[in-house]
Amino acid sequence: MCGIVGYVGERDALPIILQSLKRIEYRGYDSAGVACITDNGIEVYKDKGKVDDVIEKITNSKSISANSGIGHCRWATHGAPSKTNAHPHLDGEGEIAVVHNGIIENYLSLKEELLSQGCTFVSETDTEVIPHLINRGLKNSVNVEWELKEAVKEALSRLTGSYAIIVAAKGFDGLVAARKESPLIIGVGDRENFIASDVPAVLEQTTRVIYLDEGDLAVVKNDSVYIENGGAEVTRAERLIPWTIEDAEKGGYEHFMLKEIHEEPKAITDTLRGYVTGDEITLGIDLGIEGDTKVKSILMLACGTSYYAALCGKHIIETLAKVPVQLELASEFNYSDFVLDGANVVAMAITQSGETADTLMALKKAKRYGCKTVAITNVVGSSATRIADEAIYTGAGPEIGVAATKSFVAQLVIFYLLGLQKPLVAKLPDAAFLEYLEELRRMPQIARLVLDEANGDIQKHARYLSKYDHAFFVGRGVNLPIAMEGALKLKEISYIHAEGYAAGELKHGPFALLTEDTPVVAILTHQASQNIYEKMLGNVKEIKARGAPVIAIAEEGDEEVEKYVDAVIRVPRTGAIFSPIPNTVALHLLAYWTAKERGGCEIDKPRNLAKSVTVE
Ligand code: G6P
Repeated sequence: MCGIVGYVGERDALPIILQSLKRIEYRGYDSAGVACITDNGIEVYKDKGKVDDVIEKITNSKSISANSGIGHCRWATHGAPSKTNAHPHLDGEGEIAVVHNGIIENYLSLKEELLSQGCTFVSETDTEVIPHLINRGLKNSVNVEWELKEAVKEALSRLTGSYAIIVAAKGFDGLVAARKESPLIIGVGDRENFIASDVPAVLEQTTRVIYLDEGDLAVVKNDSVYIENGGAEVTRAERLIPWTIEDAEKGGYEHFMLKEIHEEPKAITDTLRGYVTGDEITLGIDLGIEGDTKVKSILMLACGTSYYAALCGKHIIETLAKVPVQLELASEFNYSDFVLDGANVVAMAITQSGETADTLMALKKAKRYGCKTVAITNVVGSSATRIADEAIYTGAGPEIGVAATKSFVAQLVIFYLLGLQKPLVAKLPDAAFLEYLEELRRMPQIARLVLDEANGDIQKHARYLSKYDHAFFVGRGVNLPIAMEGALKLKEISYIHAEGYAAGELKHGPFALLTEDTPVVAILTHQASQNIYEKMLGNVKEIKARGAPVIAIAEEGDEEVEKYVDAVIRVPRTGAIFSPIPNTVALHLLAYWTAKERGGCEIDKPRNLAKSVTVE
């Protein structure tokens, strides 16, 4: 999510740190900051805004003479983008500075403990507990390096969650870095070394890179790199990176979109991480529900891909929580004479950017009706979160490709969590709740299986699909919105005319268009009711009878389907309500490879489209 960098050497640290930060700007961020170790101690410069603004502030104030320092680009997760929430964070005494990428799940209890010991906190971040914990472990011994390393280890042993951190300390001419579930690399130079969350950050300086392993802790000085894991010294190979900076930004993928589809399992994990602890789901919002009362109904408002996610969310919440959900396109809701008794309705705006003008207007209108309002968004501090009473954040991280992919999957995860959220589902028996939760926890692995095992077949079928100018995507129930999302993605990036349609509705019009030149992608994974699968098979037979080729999305082991279709994309079998996750990953890949096969498509920036539409 965020980007972190560090430098230790003989050159001026500040320009190198700032240049490294500029190299990871492409990931998207809201604030930036640096900490340099100078003769006067740790000097910190940070603010909301762009690296360039931070640079300006620093160069306008004074020159800083330092040979080591750390830097950070923040993508807010705990606390809105602001100067105080920006990294680096310090302990109360200015001894330790930390930059962090990841999420500390138990920071609230640690913060309470540290407060009771007299520590003072200035930010709302989870990160700030780390420098305080490290400071607690310092014992003023003569061996500063050993002491700092041990204090960092002790602090890390208290954390649950994910982190890549770089620690700078007053009086120490090196840096300490560590990682758990977040990437971290060391760039090896000549009498200087670099640390970063991403390879592009160091590529201008060196192509010699050490990838730290899970659980590694490194002490990096200008002429040495010491790494240990589980208390024992380890050796990690140095590799030569053959990438250009542009290649590296995309992590070796040709497009951001493909990289982001490959990040879908992580987006699921990171979204769950914030809200699931043991067998408890805590979304941390106050829906105004007391005692045994329940939300009477939910109104969802959204545009574009988020609208299809919400449509899927309607099925999920109605199935799991048995709460009625009404869904409106924000642009339509704004101009309708809607009849609404706001007192009994929770209005939810679903918007990955939190800035879509139509959705913001709809949110304001729902507020005027007296609804309790919730923003479901990927961007902390975005306009939607400032308008709504409550916010729920998806953990997709910055998304660069204009066509939403991992943010869509993360939105689905929030709907599963909402459907299982205890106050909403007073009626779901504990055993069923636990079964659903277990299945939800399997979703990162299921998504990864699609990426690993279906990708080859999908590329093959994409070659076939790319030859046509029109396509239909059909599904039923919880997978109808996924068919619509599949069609939207295909049209956005490949410019093939595609329509997502309810399978049972084709016969009421679109049949007139079916020929051997209109392939149909049909979602045939099972759902709670066997009936839906049978009905889908029936629809497929009708489509075939009209001469249209059919590509099915079906589960591993479903041999029946082979008899009726021209090609099959296999996805792992899931508990019925969860099939939208693997199906989405498969359809995102299908759209991507089809566009790639067509050639001439600007996949990351499709013509006429914008990532965030801030006009009505
Ligand atoms: C734009 C984007 C779409 C997105 C829609 C809604 O049109 O190109 O990918 O689905 O806006 O965006 P939101 O940020 O509100 O989810």
